Amino acid sequence: MIVEWIRHTITPAPRPLRRMGVLHDLIAIDARRRRNRRAWTPHLRATHGVILDCAARLDRWDTVVVIGAGLAKDVPLMSLALLFRRVVLVDLMFMPSVRLSAMRMTAVELAPADVTGVLEAVRVLPPGAPLPEPRAAVPAIESADLVISCNTLSQLAHAPARWLAQHHHTDEATLEAFRRALIADHLRVLSEAPCPVCLITDTERQEMTAERPTAAEDLLHGVEPEVEGSAWWWRIAPKPEERLLHDVRHRVIGGWLKGYSASDDSPADLALGPATDPS
Ligand SMILES: C[S@@+](CC[C@H](N)C(=O)[O-])C[C@H]1O[C@@H](n2cnc3c(N)ncnc32)[C@H](O)[C@@H]1O
Repeated sequence: MIVEWIRHTITPAPRPLRRMGVLHDLIAIDARRRRNRRAWTPHLRATHGVILDCAARLDRWDTVVVIGAGLAKDVPLMSLALLFRRVVLVDLMFMPSVRLSAMRMTAVELAPADVTGVLEAVRVLPPGAPLPEPRAAVPAIESADLVISCNTLSQLAHAPARWLAQHHHTDEATLEAFRRALIADHLRVLSEAPCPVCLITDTERQEMTAERPTAAEDLLHGVEPEVEGSAWWWRIAPKPEERLLHDVRHRVIGGWLKGYSASDDSPADLALGPATDPS
């Protein structure tokens, strides 16, 4: 805890992102990864594997854009930098280790950006004003040979929804619609990319008791990406990390994005097998 507090104090970050808890979230997820290194390794390996598999299937390797690379622990950065002339990392902000990698590898560029286009509008929203419309955009997407959205889709609404709940007391039904809109809009922009898109995202959270799911939550709020690839379980919080008596695991899908469905009643036909335990 004290180490996290020190990191929070000394890590440079734009003030608005600090206020909205973005730096705090990045430090917390990195600390959780360190505490649960063994449980996380299969997920990190599976993510690397999907990215490299997608990259190997291209016939042009000029520019790759990686969305959600603030920590870059699940991104095979060195391999991408050898394969592509230009590796554009996109995130709200980057931790010092990623900044250092970008300084060391000439192919790697940092593109700090809010891919939802709503974060600043939410931060300065006047009381009672309608919520901003999603305006998803991805830097360098027009010149990319491959776009990778890396374990970020389920997180896009996290900071803005938390801010709205805390500062505007926005009701849960409105927040739920807002989350769904941000997620669907990101998938819309990815689907319109002029190149293949690799999507890796967690889709469902399960609490496990004695190896059996006892509670489940849809992490994509009714939006269903159609992905051709693989699915696995990420043991994100083995007990007692989050719950004293329960393990928490997330279902993750990774592969080529083929489309998506944003309606509640027409689920997409996923070209995936059952989630496996990659360990
Ligand atoms: C669960 S973490 C994924 C970890 C990440 N793939 C890594 O190791 O670098 C989610 C990432 O999504 C980023 N993110 C969340 N909302 C974003 C937004 N609106 N625009 C760009 N990045 C965002 C966060 O800053 C964080 O780095």
